[in-house]
Amino acid sequence: MLKQPISGLKPGMRLAKDVFTNDGRILLLKGFVIKPRYIQRLLAYKVDYVYVEEELVPVKKIDEELIYEDVYCNIKSVMESARLDKPLDIKSLREIVYELVRHILNDDTLFMALTGIRDIDNYTFLHSVDVCIYSVITAKALGMPIHEIRELALAAVLHDIGKCRIPPEILNKPGKLTDEEFFIMKHHSVYGMEIAEKTPDLTPSIPRIICQHHERWNGSGYPIGLKNYDIDRMARIISIADVYDALTANRVYRKRYMPHEAAEYIMSQTELYFDPNLLNTFINSIAIYPENIIVMLNTGEIARVLSSRRGLLSMRPVVSVITRKNGPPVLNPYIVDLQKNPTVSIVDIIS
Ligand SMILES: [Fe+2]
Repeated sequence: MLKQPISGLKPGMRLAKDVFTNDGRILLLKGFVIKPRYIQRLLAYKVDYVYVEEELVPVKKIDEELIYEDVYCNIKSVMESARLDKPLDIKSLREIVYELVRHILNDDTLFMALTGIRDIDNYTFLHSVDVCIYSVITAKALGMPIHEIRELALAAVLHDIGKCRIPPEILNKPGKLTDEEFFIMKHHSVYGMEIAEKTPDLTPSIPRIICQHHERWNGSGYPIGLKNYDIDRMARIISIADVYDALTANRVYRKRYMPHEAAEYIMSQTELYFDPNLLNTFINSIAIYPENIIVMLNTGEIARVLSSRRGLLSMRPVVSVITRKNGPPVLNPYIVDLQKNPTVSIVDIIS
């Protein structure tokens, strides 16, 4: 067993001990083989070192992980160009976003398990990819034609591009914004529209969709206060994906919601903030707890999500318990259907 600083941690190393956050929550389990997204997670939680076994396990990145990383790197570089007021070259972003669309139309299961990576420093870029994934999954369920899904995907990944013009001290403020700061923050949708308008090769609807992603169904949004069907349908889809994904992230000013809590919250806001029909499609299309993610139960047990349920049923999935409370891994994992066990609930996501 080796003590391995995170700076030298490599994909394929196998954990020899459980890894905990500084406040004592379990982060990764003994036996997990390190993947690139685990390294991001360890860095995000400021873990200094882990214990690994001496032998490396060969890891082959799956297509979906490569595409996710590629979209992430591209949107990061496009936003950096926008921040420096350079002309945007969206050719490679467009190509990889179309590739993402193609894969999701074929099978979206693996992409759902990739959402929710939370690295505070790269929050905006990771959030942009997740919003794109959720928007495409919704569009697929709506039966939208491929050219519209591609347009939606591009608008979704660019929806917060205007944040590059918001001063970092407001964007990253560790606390509630003052009224004046919020006023400045709200400009990001108009800035985004302006940046998109200056970008060749984007269809004219994309700047409009970006501008409208904070408009709300009852007219309480910004920048204009548009209502109901006056808001572009694609902006209505993106606004649902945006709020759901943002709620499930830890922010400096509040603890994250568990995915089932975020789903319950947005459902409680239907007809106020969101188009009820689109919200219905969104909730019924996503897996709130995707297959194969590792969760902690309120019993203290750690379990792997087994079911590939969608919609409301996926709020309470079937799980396979792999570790008892404070105990070693169980030899024969046992199945718990949370639908049939109303007192058992998910309290944390391990990975
Ligand atoms: Fe936004």
